[in-house]
Order: sequence, then C-alpha cells, then structure tokens
Amino acid sequence: MAIPEEFIQELKSRADIADVVGSYVKLKKVGRNLMGLCPFHNEKSPSFSVSSENGFFHCFGCGVGGDVITFIKQIENLDYVDAVRFLAQRAGMTVPEGNRNDGLTQLRSRIYEANREAARFYHKQLYSPEGREALAYLRGRQLTEKTIIHFGLGYSPKSRFELVNHLKAKGFTNNELIQANLANQSQRGNPFDRFSDRVMFPIIDLRGNVIGFGGRIMTDIKPKYLNTAETPAFNKSRNLFALQFAKNKANGQLILVEGYMDVIALHQAGFENAVATLGTALTQEQATVIKRYCDEVVLCYDADEAGQKATTRAISILRPTGINIKVVTVPSGKDPDEFMKSYGDQGPGRFRMLLEKSGNDVEFRLNKLRSRYNTDITEQRVEFLTQAARLIAGLDNSIEMDIYISRLASELNVEKSAIKQQVRRFSRQHFREASQREQREIRAQMSADHDRINQEKRYHLRAANAEEALLALLMTNPDIAARIFPKLPAEQFMTSFNRKVYDTLKRRFDNGFDFTLTDISGEFSNEEISSIAGILASHPRENHPETAASEYIQVLQEESQRLTPEQLAQADDATILEQLKMLKEKKK
Ligand code: CTP
Ligand code: MN
Repeated sequence: MAIPEEFIQELKSRADIADVVGSYVKLKKVGRNLMGLCPFHNEKSPSFSVSSENGFFHCFGCGVGGDVITFIKQIENLDYVDAVRFLAQRAGMTVPEGNRNDGLTQLRSRIYEANREAARFYHKQLYSPEGREALAYLRGRQLTEKTIIHFGLGYSPKSRFELVNHLKAKGFTNNELIQANLANQSQRGNPFDRFSDRVMFPIIDLRGNVIGFGGRIMTDIKPKYLNTAETPAFNKSRNLFALQFAKNKANGQLILVEGYMDVIALHQAGFENAVATLGTALTQEQATVIKRYCDEVVLCYDADEAGQKATTRAISILRPTGINIKVVTVPSGKDPDEFMKSYGDQGPGRFRMLLEKSGNDVEFRLNKLRSRYNTDITEQRVEFLTQAARLIAGLDNSIEMDIYISRLASELNVEKSAIKQQVRRFSRQHFREASQREQREIRAQMSADHDRINQEKRYHLRAANAEEALLALLMTNPDIAARIFPKLPAEQFMTSFNRKVYDTLKRRFDNGFDFTLTDISGEFSNEEISSIAGILASHPRENHPETAASEYIQVLQEESQRLTPEQLAQADDATILEQLKMLKEKKK
C-alpha cells in the first residue's frame, strides 16, 4: 500500500525516536546523543547511539542504523507498512487506507482471514458427530472444556474437501487456500484439504492473527504432527506457540517446552508462562523474541536423549543473549504433559517444586560433562577437571566462575588454586579468540556494507584505501585538519563517495563547524552514515597522524596520475613510458 509521504513525515515527527527506542533499550545521555546496548547484537559496552535531533539510530558495533521506522521494522520483525501501522497506533494516528494494497500485504491479510475462518470451522467440527472421537481424544488427554476453548482446539474432518468447500463458499479463492497451506493442489490443479482426521492446534501470533496450525493424528500413523508449511503469514523461526498468552503472564520468566501438548498441559495447570517452538529447534530469532518478554528462561525439554541434546543446543543459543537460563529435567523420562497427567491433582504442586529446585545452565552442563567420566580414576578426574575448567572459562561473570571453582574443588578434593589457574589459562585463550572473532565479523560486515555504498572502490582499491584512511585520520584528529585541508583538493579523491565525504568535512571545516560523525549525519543517508562509521571503526588511531596523512596524500597523488587499464590500452607510447617511469619511482 502506498502511504502518503506527508503522513510518514507527520508520523516521524510525532514518534520521537528516543522515546520509541527508549522503550526497548535503556538509553543514557552522552554528549548530544543517547547511548545504550545495541539490541541487534550482543555487546557489553554500549555502542548503540540515538540522535533525537537527527531522528536516527546507529550502532557503531554492528553497523545497523536508520530512522524510527527502520528501527521498528527490525526490532518487531515487521515489514515497512506494518511498522508504520505499529508506530501510528502508538502515536494515536490512523494510517490512511489507500485503495491500492501491495500484493504481499494483501495476500497475507487474506491468509489471516482464511486461517481464522478455518480455525472456527475446525473448532465447530470438534462438537459435530464426526468430531466425537477427537473430542474424546482431547478429554482422554485430560484437557478441560475451558482449555479446549481457550486454545481454540479443533478437528479436521476426514474427507478432503470440507474445509475447501466451506472457505470457497466464504469467498476465498483456490490460490488463497493453497498459499495459506490450508489446501494442497491435486494433479489436476484442484485444491483439497491439507489436514484430514487430525486434532488441530491453531497457532496465533502476538497480534492475534491465526498464522498456522499443527495437526496431531490420533493413531500411531506418521507423521504424528503435521504443521503448516512456511507461508507469507507463517514463519516458524520467529514465532512461538502460546506466546500471545504467555507474554502477559511471564512476570520475568518463560518456560520453554518441546510440544504443543506440553504447553497446553502446563497452562491448564496454572503455568501460563509456557511456550514452545513450532516443531523446529530453537532459533536465534526466537531467542531474541524471548529475551524481549522475560529475563529468565526455564528449559523444560523431554527427559530423553533428544531432549537433552536440544537443551544443550538451546543453551548455546540463549546464553549469548545474556538471559538467565534454568534447566528442569522432568523425572522418569516424562515430558511435562505426561508429568501433569500422571500426578493428577498433585501435578501443579510437584511441578512448582521442580521449578524451584531447577539448576542453572552451568550446572546442567557440568553434570552432563561429569556423567561422562569416572572421577574415581585419577586420569579421568584430571580430564574432567580440565574440561570443566574450559567450560567455566567460557562464563563471563567472575563471581559465577568462583562459585563453580569452589564447588568443584571441594567435590573432587583438589586445591581451588589449581583449578583457578587452569580456568584463567583457558579464559585468556577464550577471550583472545572471542575478541578476534568479533573484530573479524564486524570488519567483514562493515566492509560489505561499505563496498555497497562505494561501488567504485573495487576499481580503485589502493586509492580508496588511502582515501578512507585519510577520512578516518581527519575525523579522529581534528587538530591536524588545518594543515591537511588546504593541501588536498577534493578532486584528488578518486571514488566519488569518499570524495563527497571529504568535501563535506572540508566545507564544514571552512565554515568553522565540527565534523564528527554525528555532526555530518544530517548530510548523509543512514546507510552512508553506517558506512562512514565502518571506515572509522576499521582504522585504529595513528600515533603520528601527520606523517601518516602525508603518506596517504602521496598515494592519492600517485593513483590519480595512474591510468586505468582502459586508458592504458588507448594511450600513446610516450604516455605509457611515463607511467612506467612513475611506477619504477614508486618502487624505490
Ligand atoms: N513435532 C512435529 N512433527 C512431528 C513430531 C513432532 O512438528 N512429526 C513437533 C510438535 O510441535 C510437537 C513437538 O515436536 O508438539 C514435540 O514432539 P514429540 O515430543 O514427539 O511429541 P509430544 O509433544 O510429546 O506430543 P504428544 O504428547 O501429542 O505425543
Ligand atoms: Mn507428549
């Protein structure tokens, strides 16, 4: 949908970026900007800056940046139009609904409508004669009437055309049903119901849209669960089952379980902060979503081998978000649903006890490690302690480290100082590796961004590198600027983007203005600013800026005299000779 430009401008002026960002990130005033921890990458020292004045945000760590709409797009995982709607709602404005809808947005909202109608249909089927068995199945699994209604559970009838016919009668097209993955297409191109003879679990997003379904077969036939495939409305890696309920009950904590039934059984037992992934392993995107709604996750996966593996994996995804992690293992190989079922009235109380004595993720990992060794045998004890020290070295809280070191020392009867030394060795190594990795990633990201902005760079690599080094020098050493600017005309810059940056700095300098990144931000797009930030980030401070500057200027002069391969091909002999001479001189 095309939203009028005036509306966007009005929205931007009403939705103050500091306000909007401030509701996601704790911001602190630093100079004229606000700074905080970047919500888009993990960091410990704030490199995320927000400029209220210029209406943009920028992270010096990972390079993201943009205006208030971009921010909402990224943090809420919305497309442009939805981000505008989101902000408009917040600002108490109504988006003018044009009559031209963009294709995808329109299809998506048709899928939501078809899904909602399908959920209603399935639910109704549950109470029809055909759904009798399904209703008995759900009751047999101890679900109350209230729970069945609360989760909108349903039944998809056996025949493969009932839903399709029902939805077509309501005006949905074949294409919409297929796009929604409510129907499959026969060889002849006719749609037929995708779900048949299954108990249906509607999946609902945070805005109340029905985005997809899980369907459980009531026999041993495989697959046990059939889920909606990815559609324009359904993204498995971003959504979590029951988060629409759990987010209001979280109170700082979410319980993450494996299955739909586990969630439902827990909610029924009063643990309404339980959520589950949608038939896939936990993703990074889901971890980000989780982090937004709580500061502690309790992992409560199945007690079997697969569940324990999944726990380890989930820990490694959640740990970098800085969220508190606890691990509950349900005893005697049960999943939370079976646990509740087997304890009846006592279920909730017993589960509460499990939650209370749950260990954290470090304990979980240490126990797991320990189970692989026989610590009565000296060699194995040494090996276990070494591996444990490596694990502890990966923690980033020294109090936490100390606690585990003490515990291990007393449990295994070794000197605390010996373990401590080992841990220290591993942590130095760990720190080195991590910071090298981080630097590499940031540089790779920044140079990729920058090369997109400065497309000429690849043709003039040597010149462009010198240009960037110079720009960084000037911006970080304004005291040398007075001697550099007069010496170096902008024309000496070979790539036009860098020339534009230089020109801007020079002009501001000539007019007596400052030219830090923030000062010049108004003159560049957000992407360009990210790119300039990238230049700054990849050029460490020079000890002798003035000497360095003359070297770079020298390079620029050489490069500007050098002919391109195309020019060289057309040049006369005398010119070529001159070029050769120049190259030789440079080598000396
Ligand atoms: N799952 C799936 N497809 C399958 C099997 C499982 O998508 N073929 C997903 C479902 O989301 C399911 C979860 O993985 O809820 C956990 O699977 P599993 O542990 O096998 O089932 P339970 O949740 O225990 O299901 P139930 O209690 O109904 O047997
Ligand atoms: Mn189960």
